[in-house]
Amino acid sequence: MADFATSVRNSYQWDAPSLDIGNAVLDGKLFTDLPVRIPLAMMNRHGLIAGSTGTGKSRTLQLLAEGLSRNGVPSLVADIKGDLAGLSQPGEASPKILERVKAMGREFKPEAFPTEFYSLTGARGTQIRATVTSFGPVLLGKVLELTDTQQSVLSMVFKYCDDHRLPLLDFKDLRDALLYLKDHKNELEQYGGMSPATVGVLVRKLVELEQQGAQTFFGEPELDINDLMRVQDGKGVINVISLADVQDKPRLYSTFMMWLLGQFYFGLPEAGDLDKPKLVFFFDEAHQLFEDASSALVEHIEQVARLIRSKGIGVFFITQTPKDIDNDVLAQLGNRVQHAVRAFTPQDAKDLKSSASTFPPSSFYKVEQTLTSLGIGEALVSVLNPKGIPTEAVHLRVATPSSSMGTIEQSDYDAARRGSRLASKYATAIDRESAHEILSGKLARAAEVRADEEETRARPARATGRARKEKTVLETVMGSSVGRQAARTVTQQVIRGLFGLLKR
Ligand SMILES: Nc1ncnc2c1ncn2[C@@H]1O[C@H](COP(=O)(O)OP(=O)(O)O)[C@@H](O)[C@H]1O
Ligand SMILES: [Mg+2]
Repeated sequence: MADFATSVRNSYQWDAPSLDIGNAVLDGKLFTDLPVRIPLAMMNRHGLIAGSTGTGKSRTLQLLAEGLSRNGVPSLVADIKGDLAGLSQPGEASPKILERVKAMGREFKPEAFPTEFYSLTGARGTQIRATVTSFGPVLLGKVLELTDTQQSVLSMVFKYCDDHRLPLLDFKDLRDALLYLKDHKNELEQYGGMSPATVGVLVRKLVELEQQGAQTFFGEPELDINDLMRVQDGKGVINVISLADVQDKPRLYSTFMMWLLGQFYFGLPEAGDLDKPKLVFFFDEAHQLFEDASSALVEHIEQVARLIRSKGIGVFFITQTPKDIDNDVLAQLGNRVQHAVRAFTPQDAKDLKSSASTFPPSSFYKVEQTLTSLGIGEALVSVLNPKGIPTEAVHLRVATPSSSMGTIEQSDYDAARRGSRLASKYATAIDRESAHEILSGKLARAAEVRADEEETRARPARATGRARKEKTVLETVMGSSVGRQAARTVTQQVIRGLFGLLKR
């Protein structure tokens, strides 16, 4: 036992500012004098919180977000079930909680944290929007579940619109661009051509997505990442993205989170080694990010995860088993919190082996056995010490969050929204001149030209009017009237390059 205490102390004692996450356990005994911590400076070295359903993953996430907030670090929490909204309310001192906290030699101090709610549909918080262009064809293709052929046609359409200065901002823009190109397929010949049937499929899929409510998400004003990095009275603001209302659209969630990571990646300067991160992402139900992801997309997730570290951004994946995460990404995750694994089926047993194999051998624990016997709110952990070296694995009883562990009412979301400056900033969609307007103009003028032609045939004297109008059509689509869009489009192209459209 003395050995164990010394080993934990050697492994987890340092001076650097740290997040307290709980206490060590060995053979069923809790050590109130052996705290377990994560250095604040290592929170941008990414992490994994894994474990079967109901074992305490979301509470661990909550605890980390609270600790970051107290240290002035904002975070972004993907709230799939609505059970992280409680961060905005003080926790409830139930007898069960008080007992648990007391057994850990601690005191329960209920505390609410500054939170900002967001929603992709606008139902539960500040409306989040992204333009179709900045989303890019690869992510959009994933949302629409496109085949390779359909994907390449979509990429072609984006390229065409870039080249012809047709800004794709909202859903109407993309739909109209597709409809226009379906009727003018010769326009795409120099891009390799495409079949109108494929375009028809794309239009149909787009309409389907639109009917599911996604049209509120695509457009302007686009979410500004600086709004996610606020500190209020010294506490980091916890940005809770409510995703319960898009649970039937997991692809919208996963691609949106990828888009957001990309925005941070391109929007922030290199930061070098900081004493604390600028922001930490928590991806709950992270397996959805990797489900059916093309190898190109997985490669980009890996790349962004690796590079975003140097921008001072941390990323934590929360998932049932490490196997849900691609191996190259897994290799980037320095902090590991593995909650209990409930092994029932042969497949579970295999998963258990692979979860166990991600931990270094321990002189105090049989890893596989420990993983199946961990209690709720307990985990086997190994984190990075301030030098970036993995600590000894330790059986941890996780401290209890100070905020509420439950869901909140719709009326609470509504009240939060009424009190939010950001909610009003993003409340109203802006509809600038973009592909939809330009193309409608073009088609309307073409119709006018046709009408003119008919008239001309009847009354030849009016032919000059027709020539003037044709020039206007050309000017509008190719010319300078949309030139002011160009600068913005270039920046967006850079961001989009991340997702594989542009040559690397
Ligand atoms: N650290 C903790 N302190 C107190 N209770 C906890 C803790 N972790 C888990 N629990 C209890 O277990 C329940 C399930 O935890 P949760 O984090 O929602 O599981 P998961 O996200 O893994 O499905 C919680 O509602 C809470 O009652
Ligand atoms: Mg959970």
